[in-house]
Amino acid sequence: MSEINGKVVIITGASSGLGEAAAHRLAKGGAKLVLGARREDRLKSLVDAIVEQGGEAIYRVTDVTDRDQVEALAAAAKETYGRIDVLINNAGLMPLSPLDQLKVDEWEQMVDVNIKGVLYGIAAVLPTMREQHSGHIINLSSVAGHVVFPSAAVYCATKYAVKALSEGIRQEGGEEIRSTNISPGAVATELTSTISDPDTAKGVNELYEMAIDADAIARAIIYAIEQPADVDVNEIIIRPTRQPL
Ligand SMILES: NC(=O)c1ccc[n+]([C@@H]2O[C@H](COP(=O)([O-])OP(=O)(O)OC[C@H]3O[C@@H](n4cnc5c(N)ncnc54)[C@H](OP(=O)(O)O)[C@@H]3O)[C@@H](O)[C@H]2O)c1
Repeated sequence: MSEINGKVVIITGASSGLGEAAAHRLAKGGAKLVLGARREDRLKSLVDAIVEQGGEAIYRVTDVTDRDQVEALAAAAKETYGRIDVLINNAGLMPLSPLDQLKVDEWEQMVDVNIKGVLYGIAAVLPTMREQHSGHIINLSSVAGHVVFPSAAVYCATKYAVKALSEGIRQEGGEEIRSTNISPGAVATELTSTISDPDTAKGVNELYEMAIDADAIARAIIYAIEQPADVDVNEIIIRPTRQPL
């Protein structure tokens, strides 16, 4: 029997891209979903579609830069479904640019969403997972959490941080908390739309012509969750076959 069925799974950044694709796959596997993001219309349509297909899902409008909102997302999971089995720390943005452009506001936004948002997620679920003596935290890092490339210094720094946090969760989680760090390469989502520098956007959009479907990452998430409780899938890197970086 699938280890997905009946699990309570929170997904941040569920309104598009990888989060949305993971929600569809997990719902088909019988997971009970708690979906967060800022765009309510997108979350509502997603929940409606899942419920129409016989799945179980709720949403809460959640900005991951606000700790109270992330706590409320976790509280909604407990109130509605009684427990939290998996947190997918997925919300993120990638406004790439050369350091010389000093887009400090964008640097701060990446730190706030890609790092602090992940920390707030961990803080919101860890006490419950400890009480349950079980839980699984899945963090979305990136190939950019393994290699640094020009115009991506700050984004890479945030994704290296996510990888470090995943390893910390693994080491401190012991037998109770599983930790999975997922590092995608180019995946066709809305992620590149956050790039404000036209030259960088042009280069990245050319690279993303090789992008693979978001469902490839959803399948990896399923693989990590459906393993038996004593199997901890710690690291998955998934690139398009054509991706050189
Ligand atoms: N696509 C790729 O090539 C790729 C590669 C490696 C890693 N990743 C990582 O995968 C994750 C998902 O990205 P994606 O590719 O699916 O991009 P996406 O389609 O742009 O999705 C990003 C999601 O994050 C949410 N988000 C952004 N800021 C938020 C905030 N402050 N609070 C809550 N949610 C927020 C967005 O929802 P709202 O705008 O509605 O809040 C959206 O649902 C990111 O962490 C990204 O870094 C993606």
